[in-house]
Amino acid sequence: MIPNDPFLGTHYIGREEQKAVRKILKSKSLFRYHGPDLLYKTDEFEKNMAKYLNVKYVLACSNGAAAIKLACIANGIGPGDEVIMSPFTFIASASSVLSCGAVPKFVDVDDTMNIDPSKIEENISTRTKAILAIHMQGQPCDMKSIMKIAKKHNLIVIEDAAQAFGSEIDGKKTGTIGDVGAFSLQAGKTITCGEGGFIATNNRKIYQIAKMYHDNGGYRVGCDYPTWENGKTIYGENFKLTEIQSAIANEQLKKINKILNKQKKVYEYIVNNLDTDFYKLRPHIDNSILVHSNIAIEFSSQKECQQFIKYMNKFGIGFNIYCSNLINHFDTFKYKVSWHSSNFPYNVSNYEDKECPNTEDLFRRVAWFSLSASLKPKHLKFIVKKLEDFKNEF
Ligand SMILES: Cc1ncc(COP(=O)(O)O)c(C=O)c1O
Repeated sequence: MIPNDPFLGTHYIGREEQKAVRKILKSKSLFRYHGPDLLYKTDEFEKNMAKYLNVKYVLACSNGAAAIKLACIANGIGPGDEVIMSPFTFIASASSVLSCGAVPKFVDVDDTMNIDPSKIEENISTRTKAILAIHMQGQPCDMKSIMKIAKKHNLIVIEDAAQAFGSEIDGKKTGTIGDVGAFSLQAGKTITCGEGGFIATNNRKIYQIAKMYHDNGGYRVGCDYPTWENGKTIYGENFKLTEIQSAIANEQLKKINKILNKQKKVYEYIVNNLDTDFYKLRPHIDNSILVHSNIAIEFSSQKECQQFIKYMNKFGIGFNIYCSNLINHFDTFKYKVSWHSSNFPYNVSNYEDKECPNTEDLFRRVAWFSLSASLKPKHLKFIVKKLEDFKNEF
């Protein structure tokens, strides 16, 4: 079998991460704000990440879904509001919006398989509060167009950069262009500490609200015990990251260039040996640097795509369509499923079923292969050979 996993940073977990974890355990200080010998690794991670992303504020949190929720909450998105997004994503992009009481408004993708900016305006209603730009599988959305539309209609822009940490557009890191970016440190992401996430913003108010919300809504100065008897306090939840997770994430961040360069090399080896007249690669926007976590090939029909997948799978090369269904067809949206008998938030927000024909068509015609960080030259040679064989046989 040819390695086929989404793990990038995971494969780089080594002595550095082990040493960092041992230090935290020795300190017996696992909570970011208190401990007998606190090493402030979460503070350090936030500072290092802000420097890497070139933003003023980074707030570490428990996962990427929490990061999206914090981004929404800090921008005052709530019951009755609509957030525009594409349905070609992981469920958390939309469920984080639901958890604020708002609903997603699904908008079609273009050939890049990210949201189609030309379809956004026709979907803006009086309820629309924000656009969630989801940078799918290492490729940035067309942020220039999205920002222009947002400015014209006075909308907030949140970037879901969970799958694209390390990518860039026009020299700016993805996730730092809109009002706030949400990132994930889950096992399948560019860098990881198993579970984890963070938000990045240049807006002090967004940062401060998110910081309080992620800390049970309390007002905390430094590492003091928070107060809930302060005009600034809000309702909140506990979305804090632990010192062990932060220590691992810090070590992973040091390896980011190594990870990205290796992925680029692997991707380029395959693409440079590919007949791109026969194989249509997923297009991307100009002036972007991608995270080469995968290779995606578009076929002219669903049937041809399935033939290709079957052929490759026969040789242990795990090409497949990205998912078995788009999230707008999940029961959660189709039947407006809620945990509560009031049917919140569907009862307060007018969720509308929206067809996204281009997304519907494309996701069935595109075959994906995750470029595992454990792929070896012999695997790459074999993949290239089988791609050539398929071309010659069909
Ligand atoms: C596009 C996207 N958004 C959000 C998330 C949520 O991140 P997490 O799993 O860290 O909650 C993911 C995770 O896979 C994702 O792929």
